[in-house]
Amino acid sequence: MVAAPHPVPLPAGGERERAEDSPATPSPRGRGEDWGEGLSAAAATHDTLCETLAQSAAAILEAAEPARKVALSRALAARWRAGDMAVGRATPPQRPARPEHPVLRPPRDMPRRRNFGAPAGRIALLHALAHIELNAIDLAWDIVARFSDTGMPCAFFDDWLGVAAEEAEHFALLASRLDALGSVYGALPAHDGLWEAAAATAHDLIARLAIVPLVLEARGLDVTPEMILRLERAGDGESAAILARIYRDEIGHVAVGLRWFHRLCHEHGLDPEAAFHDRVRRYFGGALKPPFNREGRDKAGFPAAYYEKLTCATVAS
Ligand SMILES: [Fe+2]
Ligand SMILES: [Fe+2]
Repeated sequence: MVAAPHPVPLPAGGERERAEDSPATPSPRGRGEDWGEGLSAAAATHDTLCETLAQSAAAILEAAEPARKVALSRALAARWRAGDMAVGRATPPQRPARPEHPVLRPPRDMPRRRNFGAPAGRIALLHALAHIELNAIDLAWDIVARFSDTGMPCAFFDDWLGVAAEEAEHFALLASRLDALGSVYGALPAHDGLWEAAAATAHDLIARLAIVPLVLEARGLDVTPEMILRLERAGDGESAAILARIYRDEIGHVAVGLRWFHRLCHEHGLDPEAAFHDRVRRYFGGALKPPFNREGRDKAGFPAAYYEKLTCATVAS
């Protein structure tokens, strides 16, 4: 999961009602469908994958329907791990394809509501997180495809394919949970600001790594423990358990980002702390927001000096 560059938006009252009752704009996937492994066999035969890893990653970016994106992600991960694919080259789309629903709204138009005590509040949260995970699938495949011609070693593609595969599982878990709660991904509007970081860093892998895993995914580590606690307090242990799984995986995603960020900085003779500060200032357009989850970030191996010097207070001084 990546955290939205803006606070997780939650829908207002009228939309909450629709989330609980029958969605006015149902997504192409109906309620109660199977998001488990059966989806892979049903929806992604290997003939829908391309010859190379990069081309297949680009094809996933061009798949609009979430179920297909998840199925193709699972199929591509299995095929790459079987060892019969070359990395190849591809030009991914500027923006990934998206389903007709959810309706995408500018971040400023997203009302916020944080009452987890009511089912509608939890549905709104899970919907917002599912949308973030759908974007996270694309962000990981975009790294694979867009930087396929940069001479990175196989281990780089192993790592980002692993991230993409986990993001697909995160989306599937949240979509299943929405189904169980009587809603569906697509029933509520969603935030349309999540691709900005990818677009701004499409030309520079060091910048992409600084912003996507090390700012946005690391921000997810900061905010997720509180969400887990609030879900537990609201008696929604199942949703809390999904977020706990996601949280553990996301520590690994930040660690992957850090590993390749450090390696590229080393190869280019850059001081990683200075390079991080430079890229965040140039491409993130604002200070990082404390409080930081030092424990989670430490587990990912993220040095505090990188991010603690980029808060509003330190940037202004
Ligand atoms: Fe995720
Ligand atoms: Fe992630």
